[in-house]
Amino acid sequence: MAVIKKICCIGAGFVGGPTMAVVADRCPNIIIEVVDINEDRIKAWNQEDLSRLPIFEPGLSEIINRVRGKNLYFSNEIEKSIKTSDMIFISVNTPIKKNGIGAGETSDLRFVELCARQISEMAIGHTIVVEKSTLPVKTAQTIKSILDSAVKNKTGEERSFSVLSNPEFLAEGTAIENLEFPDRVLIGGDDAVAIESLKEVYLNWIPKEKIICTNLWSSELSKLTANAFLAQRISSINSISAICESTGAEIKEVAHAVGKDSRIGEKFLRAGPGFGGSCFKKDILNLVYLCKYYGLYEIAEYWNNIVKINSWQKKRIYELVVNKLYGNLSDKKIAILGFSFKANTNDTRESPAIDICSYLINEGAYLKIHDYKVSESLIKDTLSKSFIVSPNKREKIENCFSFKNDVYEAIKSSDAILILTEWDKYKSLDWDKISKITRKPTWVFDTRVILDIKTLKKFDFNLWQLGFGE
Ligand code: UDX
Ligand code: UDX
Repeated sequence: MAVIKKICCIGAGFVGGPTMAVVADRCPNIIIEVVDINEDRIKAWNQEDLSRLPIFEPGLSEIINRVRGKNLYFSNEIEKSIKTSDMIFISVNTPIKKNGIGAGETSDLRFVELCARQISEMAIGHTIVVEKSTLPVKTAQTIKSILDSAVKNKTGEERSFSVLSNPEFLAEGTAIENLEFPDRVLIGGDDAVAIESLKEVYLNWIPKEKIICTNLWSSELSKLTANAFLAQRISSINSISAICESTGAEIKEVAHAVGKDSRIGEKFLRAGPGFGGSCFKKDILNLVYLCKYYGLYEIAEYWNNIVKINSWQKKRIYELVVNKLYGNLSDKKIAILGFSFKANTNDTRESPAIDICSYLINEGAYLKIHDYKVSESLIKDTLSKSFIVSPNKREKIENCFSFKNDVYEAIKSSDAILILTEWDKYKSLDWDKISKITRKPTWVFDTRVILDIKTLKKFDFNLWQLGFGE
């Protein structure tokens, strides 16, 4: 077994940054370099002010403070780092392909391919290459064939590779906890020596019974399956939320009663405006594509429905808001509370807020958006790229919304308040104060089911809560 002394991680994003910070913290004898093509991102990782790191994750800045400059380094020197590392993690983004075969379903692997080519050209000696990004099943094959396409590197030195799959299971907002105390670590591969080397890195802080070793394809498929199952639970509970509203059942009570069955379990049964985040939709669509590729059309359709219900949930919330506001949003102001795809992150990728806000803008509403961590510029950029927003509004998106740092400023003189992210602070808003600053009648739409109905009833609001019958 080769003892790993130096690790390079290509991609300083939501996955690469926190993952390598924890590895560095737990493995003081390993030097770790996180490299990225994006100069601004690396500058942001290296800046003194730890409150302004490019990613917000509870507990991350404390770790960066401990290990940065000691055994964790951020740089743009990708080639140099590849040359001098024993192990290289590929942690670049893998967006959904926009054009050509598999467009709209399979992942665009251009960045992964680029990394493989860079590694093939620059590596020296034996290097273990680890897929960290979530990838379509059989991607390791692509990486292997690129790596092995020549016997020597660009400068004529001999080199060889082992490819492992080591998917990430961290959830944003709890990434550090998930990395420090994972349910399991999965390592897929066919080179026992390489597997042992990676296992040895994790054994620095993870008990060996939590480390699962499989073949490459099982590892890749397990990651897609885990995310598909999680997303499936959310679409399931969201579908039941609509039945609750029609029948007078209450979604929290139903979720509680169902979750108490130990075979089902309590987690991931919170109904909401639909799942977001960079992984769920993309991974299910990858699974759908894989099924179609192998002629498994019924299975493709089965999984595709999870995504369909997710889109439907967002649309039905928007339609409901329009309906409650007398079918007309022109000249109406709506306070949007929360834009990130979940609490405790500044990430907006696939956030349900994007589609819901886009529909409302098209309908003529003026939005006053508040979020505790998402920046105004990101919201503007995101909405101006949303295909739901009509082209004429997209061009002048700044006329359709304003961003408010203060939540009460967002709420002031609004006709409706729409809670889209479950930030803790929204649970303890001053409803007495709010009742005096909104336009009457005021509707409150709680899509995350976080408000106390009794408290709101003391004031003069119309309340709609997801999953509650009227
Ligand atoms: C995640 C996961 O890795 C992936 O599994 C998931 O499917 C989607 O995205 P994440 O860390 O969240 O990646 O992505 P992002 O925050 O966009 O970071 C990726 C980084 O890779 C960016 O900083 C980008 O600049 C960098 N990159 C991309 C490179 O350094 N080289 C490239 O060739 C491409
Ligand atoms: C997910 C997986 O959990 C993680 O294992 C994988 O590595 C990456 O994808 P992430 O997308 O960061 O993590 O967050 P997660 O907590 O899974 O939430 C995803 C979406 O589902 C969010 O929009 C969240 O609000 C929503 N959700 C989650 C619900 O609507 N209800 C729930 O009960 C749980």
